[in-house]
Amino acid sequence: MTEQMGFTLWFTGLSGSGKTALAKELAPLMRERGLNVERLDGDIVRQSLTRDLGFSKEDRDTNIERVTFVAKLLTRNNVAVICSFISPYIARREKSRNQIGTFVECYVECPLEVLIERDVKGLYKKALAGEIKNFTGVSDPYEAPPNPEITVNSGTQTIEESLAIIVQRLEELGYVPRQEEA
Ligand code: ADX
Repeated sequence: MTEQMGFTLWFTGLSGSGKTALAKELAPLMRERGLNVERLDGDIVRQSLTRDLGFSKEDRDTNIERVTFVAKLLTRNNVAVICSFISPYIARREKSRNQIGTFVECYVECPLEVLIERDVKGLYKKALAGEIKNFTGVSDPYEAPPNPEITVNSGTQTIEESLAIIVQRLEELGYVPRQEEA
C-alpha cells in the first residue's frame, strides 16, 4: 500500500448548508479507505481554540487563521483533514490554501430561501428579525469561491449524492484510494 499523503478538504458555505453533515459522513468513509482523518468544525472549534472570537470580519479571519495553522500541521503529518467553516472571505481562504499547500476547496452551495425555510438552528429567523447582527448571507457578506475543486448543492442533491461527488473527485485527485485499492 502506498503511504498516505496528507491533504485538507475545506468545506465553505453558508450556515446550515450542510458542511458539518457532509464532513461527519465523509470521515468514516475515508477511514474505511485506510486514511487517518481529523475534523475541524466551526461550531466545535469556537467552543475551545477560538472561543474568544465573535463574527466581525477581523474575528472571522482570526478564526480561520488559527484553524489553518492546525490544519497545516496535521496535513504535513499525512493526516486527511476535513475543515468545515463558513469562511466567508475569498482572500482568507486563498491564504489558507497557500499555507496548507495540499488543499481541496469544496463549496457547499444552497439557495438562501432553502436555508431560511429549513432553519435547522433557528438562527435565520433571529437574523431576519435583527436579533443577530452580522449574520452571514442575511446581514454579512459571503464570497462564493470562483474556482473550487468541488461544488455540491445541498438544495438539489441528497447528502449521498453530494458525498459520491466528493469521494469521486478526491479519488481523481489521488488523495483517497479507490475502494479496490484500500
Ligand atoms: S466563520 O465565519 O468564522 O467561518 P464559523 O464556521 O466558525 O464561521 O461559525 C459559524 C457558526 O456560528 C454558524 O453555523 C452559526 O451556528 C454560528 N453563528 C453565530 N453567529 C453567527 C453569525 N453572525 N454569522 C454566521 N454564523 C453565526
